[in-house]
Amino acid sequence: MLTKVSVVYHSKDGHTKIMAEGVLEGASSIPGVEASLHAIVPDDFEAGVWTNAQMLAELDEADAIIFGCPTWMGCISSPLKAFFDATLDRWYPRVWKDKVGAGFTVSATPSGDKLNTLSDLLYFGLQHGMVWVGMERTPMNDEGINRLSVFLGAVGQGVFGSTEITLHDGDRKSGAELGARVARIASELGAGRSASAHS
Ligand SMILES: Cc1cc2nc3c(=O)[nH]c(=O)nc-3n(C[C@H](O)[C@H](O)[C@H](O)COP(=O)(O)O)c2cc1C
Repeated sequence: MLTKVSVVYHSKDGHTKIMAEGVLEGASSIPGVEASLHAIVPDDFEAGVWTNAQMLAELDEADAIIFGCPTWMGCISSPLKAFFDATLDRWYPRVWKDKVGAGFTVSATPSGDKLNTLSDLLYFGLQHGMVWVGMERTPMNDEGINRLSVFLGAVGQGVFGSTEITLHDGDRKSGAELGARVARIASELGAGRSASAHS
């Protein structure tokens, strides 16, 4: 049985995109999982309202959705919020109920109030009746995975003073770890649901 994992992200300058690609890589590493990236882009806005019916239809089919954005002024970025608000018609009929969910964010400073952004992502998922997954790994490892020690989701930090758009290496790996964890759990849940449907 194929498990579908979608990664929805907004990124203005590209740091969050690097992390989203790490999340995608991690999810894709789990056997039987098909993972896809969905960017929130300016072309999908009309008079400030986000609209992309095809993306929403694809997300309806996902077993898991992982959301990511930069932290802006201690909150989620406004383009991701516009996307969130555009999911209201999925909320009434509980279309995303029981999908697995998770979140990630990137900001310029080590804290940067990223926890508030992750809380926003969590509350959005809970509004939809999703089952939320956090980070499992402690920072006690040599790869820098979860080096900022956050368990509500994966977090990243752009490298200050760099002319290149780059993330600390461990942060991309943190994203990959979250993606793999969500994909594995979604896969196991799907198998369990399928077994109970046939018993
Ligand atoms: C409007 C705005 C607000 C920001 N607010 C914060 C903040 O509250 N905390 C922080 O550490 N960085 C903040 N930053 C920096 C971004 O989070 C950081 O540059 C991030 O890497 C951008 O992600 P992106 O490259 O994917 O667009 C802000 C940047 C912008 C443009």
